[in-house]
Amino acid sequence: MNKTAFITGAGGYIGSETARRLARDGYAIAAADLREDTLAKTVESVRAAGGAARAYPLDVTQPDAVEATVQRIVSDFGSLDALVHVAGGSARIGGGVPKPLVDQDLGVIETVIKVNLYGALWTSRYAARAMIAQGRGGKIVAFASAVGLNGLRGSVDYAASKGGVMSMVRALAKELGPHKINVNAVAPGVVMRPEENGGDQRAFGTNFLGEKCTAADVAGLVAFLCSPDARLVTGQTYVIDGGRSLAMKGSD
Ligand SMILES: NC(=O)c1ccc[n+]([C@@H]2O[C@H](COP(=O)([O-])OP(=O)(O)OC[C@H]3O[C@@H](n4cnc5c(N)ncnc54)[C@H](O)[C@@H]3O)[C@@H](O)[C@H]2O)c1
Repeated sequence: MNKTAFITGAGGYIGSETARRLARDGYAIAAADLREDTLAKTVESVRAAGGAARAYPLDVTQPDAVEATVQRIVSDFGSLDALVHVAGGSARIGGGVPKPLVDQDLGVIETVIKVNLYGALWTSRYAARAMIAQGRGGKIVAFASAVGLNGLRGSVDYAASKGGVMSMVRALAKELGPHKINVNAVAPGVVMRPEENGGDQRAFGTNFLGEKCTAADVAGLVAFLCSPDARLVTGQTYVIDGGRSLAMKGSD
């Protein structure tokens, strides 16, 4: 049976790695992103490795566009079996920089909430409708962040949006359980890009395993949640941060 995964943010660091990983696991990839150039690169890389992929330029903050994209994916591939909502980020996706809530631009706050939280709601809503109509279950994985659990100064908007994602998966898991659709979140800590190799203190010094977390590590967790092995896992948020979020200020 062919399976299709709709991945948002597929042009980004974690999204592109997730696309390649799910393709290796047998999913055809419906790759979506606001940026067409990086999206094209992801599709190319999946195909180069022998997988099937198509590009869907998409702004996840627009519910009508999300609905139309889901319909196109089902018509192009014949089914929709997994949604991974990776698109997101903190103040920079709104063209700003992290700032205290009292100083942050209203437009930046709005964009962060819209991409991270509304994006999760819109993509889940329309993907779930398609999965329910197919009647063969499905997997939904939305991206949260350890910041949504523990907070971060300068990123109140981001924390609020990712906290919303974690609450969303708990409630949605209850609604979609009867349809055999699993709904979970992943909450990375610091995910290091290859060009950030120099940041050893941030990469190694802030987690208890002394290991660098990469996009491939996160993609592996997503792959598990999108696999038959996770059939009884739903409504959960999985933190992947080498134990970093266990730290308490001022003590070990
Ligand atoms: N990198 C980390 O350390 C880290 C830590 C915790 C959580 N996360 C979360 O993981 C996810 C991916 O992070 P990343 O590091 O790969 O970021 P990234 O910036 O490399 O990728 C994000 C992608 O989302 C896309 N995007 C932004 N706005 C969009 C919109 N309106 N519609 C569609 N696509 C849009 C961007 O074009 C980009 O390709 C994000 O949700 C982020 O909050 C990342």
